[in-house]
Amino acid sequence: MAFEYSDERPLQLAVLISGGGSTLANLVEWIADGRLKRAVIGSVISSRAEVRGVEIARAARLPLHILRPRDFPDADAFAATQADLIDKAGADLIVMAGYLCMWQFPERFAGRVLNIHPALLPAFGGAGMYGRRVHEAVLAAGVAESGCTVHLADHLYDHGPIIARRTVAVMPGDTPESLAARVGEAERELYPEVIQRVADEGLEWLARFRAS
Ligand code: GRF
Repeated sequence: MAFEYSDERPLQLAVLISGGGSTLANLVEWIADGRLKRAVIGSVISSRAEVRGVEIARAARLPLHILRPRDFPDADAFAATQADLIDKAGADLIVMAGYLCMWQFPERFAGRVLNIHPALLPAFGGAGMYGRRVHEAVLAAGVAESGCTVHLADHLYDHGPIIARRTVAVMPGDTPESLAARVGEAERELYPEVIQRVADEGLEWLARFRAS
């Protein structure tokens, strides 16, 4: 029987950001207005200091840490410090939200690090495929559909077992901006819905994707 989270013992999220923070802002909203239940953001970690996502975390009074890879002697030291912080925050689920660093997380986190990507993986993902570039590539390929993908992270960019995808149409005359807006709408529903599923059914539900 999977562990179910409750109002007294909500699913603790650690949210990792690097930029605009729209994914974080959306989760804050869903939690505040009760669309996302039995989940709380216990910590936010940003890989950059001067970004809007940091302001969003501060405005929402969320515990915030700035952890920049370049302040560490090497990738291992960075990864270990970040993992310690997440453990100390008591996080159950690690939610990458526009997080742009490759983070070699320890094995104990495998199966509980989520990412969202603004395309239908496995297409249009990988190193350098973020932001506007993704939508440019989709339009250049001339495909009829795009969308977003929530997946378990591993140690490759935009890679790991797919948990859920949502499709949107590519319309005639779309620009990277208009397509990004349509995909963004889908993201703002899909990510909290997946997190709700974890809050409802426990981390074991996610682990099933890892095994399959
Ligand atoms: C979105 O495209 C999302 O799919 C990707 O980061 C973008 C959002 O960035 N992972 P942010 O949350 O506004 O920083």
